[in-house]
Amino acid sequence: MRLVLKNIGSLLITAHEPAPWVSGKEMASVDALSNAWLVIEHGRIACYGEGEVIPFPDDEVVDCNGGVVMPAFCDSHTHLVYAGSREQEYEDKIRGLSYEEIARRGGGILNSAKLLSKTSEDDLFEQSLPRAYEIIRSGTGAVEIKSGYGLNTRDELKMLRVIKRLAEETELTIRSTFLGAHAVPANFRSDQEGYVRQVIEEMIPAVAQEKLADFIDVFCDRGFFTVEQTGQILEAGAKYGLAPKIHANELDYSGGIQVGVRHHARSVDHLEFVGEEELAVLKESGTMPTILPGASLFLGLTYAPARKMIEAGLPVALASDYNPGSSPSGNMELVMSLGIMQLKMLPFEVLNAVTRNGAYAMGLEDTHGTITPGKTASLIITEPMADFGFMPYAYGSSQIDRVILNGKIQ
Ligand code: NIG
Ligand code: FE
Repeated sequence: MRLVLKNIGSLLITAHEPAPWVSGKEMASVDALSNAWLVIEHGRIACYGEGEVIPFPDDEVVDCNGGVVMPAFCDSHTHLVYAGSREQEYEDKIRGLSYEEIARRGGGILNSAKLLSKTSEDDLFEQSLPRAYEIIRSGTGAVEIKSGYGLNTRDELKMLRVIKRLAEETELTIRSTFLGAHAVPANFRSDQEGYVRQVIEEMIPAVAQEKLADFIDVFCDRGFFTVEQTGQILEAGAKYGLAPKIHANELDYSGGIQVGVRHHARSVDHLEFVGEEELAVLKESGTMPTILPGASLFLGLTYAPARKMIEAGLPVALASDYNPGSSPSGNMELVMSLGIMQLKMLPFEVLNAVTRNGAYAMGLEDTHGTITPGKTASLIITEPMADFGFMPYAYGSSQIDRVILNGKIQ
C-alpha cells in the first residue's frame, strides 16, 4: 500500500542529485516546493510534486494541513545508552565545580561507568529504550550512538549489544561507534598507556569480531587522550575497517582536529576551540565539522565558532550529544534553536546541519537527510506554519505534528 501526503505547505529539502553535503554560502539555501504532495512506497520516497494529487483507491492519505514536510533529523552524535543519571553532579556544577574537576574526583564519565558495570544488559536495554522512543517522538530518524561508559571489554561489548538491540527493536536507523577511549578507568589511573594498549589489543578486535561498530571514537582533549594515543587507536581501528568520528577541541586546542583529519575521520565533533590552522586543515578534508551546542549550553562553555566555519566555506553539522553528563537531551528542535540563538546560524543553515550534513557525518548520505526519490521515507510533518523559520524560532515548544520512519507513521 502507498502512503500519500497531501496539502504540504512547504516540502524541504528536495534534492534530485545526491550531493554528499552542503557547505559555506550554500548552507543558507534549500530547494523546496510549495503546495506539494509526496508518495511513499515500500518505505521509500517514490515521487513528489506540486499542486493537487489524485490518490489511488487503495492509498492511505495523510492530510498535512499546510505544514512543512522535511527529512527526519539525523542526529550524528549521541551517547544515549547509559545507566542511571547524574543530576547530583549538575548540582555540583551549579555550586561552581568545572566538568574537568568533577571528572578528576572520579565523577563524570567514571561515575556513569561505575553505574553501568552494575547494570545487566537487559536492564541497560530497558533503561535506554524509552530514550530511543523519546527521540523518535522528537523527530529523529537516524542516530549515531556511542559506547564509552564500559571502559573494559565486557562492559563496552554490553553497551554495543544494547545499541544493536535498539536498532532491531525500533524504526530508528542506527550507526554505532566504539568509544573505549572515552576516559581512563579508575584501575588504570596511573597507567594510561596500559589502558590504551588494552583498547588496541583487546577491545578493538573483540568489537570487530562481533561486528558491533561502524565507527571508532577517541576523546582527544586536555586531561583525556593525547594526539599520539589518538593516532595509535585510530590506526588500530582502521585495520578492522572502523572509520573515525572523534571528540576534539572541546576543552582546548588539543590537536584533535588535525589527528582526526590525518586519519580520514568522517567527522570531528565539539570544536569549541577552532583557530585558523584548524579551519585550513578542515578545508582540505572530507571530514564533517560537527557542533554540539547542547553541551556548551549545559556546561556553560563557549560556543563553537559556527559562523567562522561557514564563512570559511566549510560544511557544519549539528548534533545533540545526548548523554548524562554534558547534554542530557536529545531534542533536535532545541539544537536547531541553539544553532540560531547561540551560533548565529540562519534557519536554513541549521536545517541543512541537522539533516543532510548530519547524515553525511554518520555515512548515511545515500539514504537519509534529503527528500530524494529512492531515499528512506523518514520524515517530519510539522504543525501548519507559513515559514520553516517558525520552527527554530519558537524554541522550547515542539512544532512536530507527525513523524514517519521507514514509511511508517510513528
Ligand atoms: O560528548 N566529551 C566527552 N564525552 C561526552 C560527555 C560524557 C559524559 O560526561 O558522560 C560529551 O560531552
Ligand atoms: Fe559526546
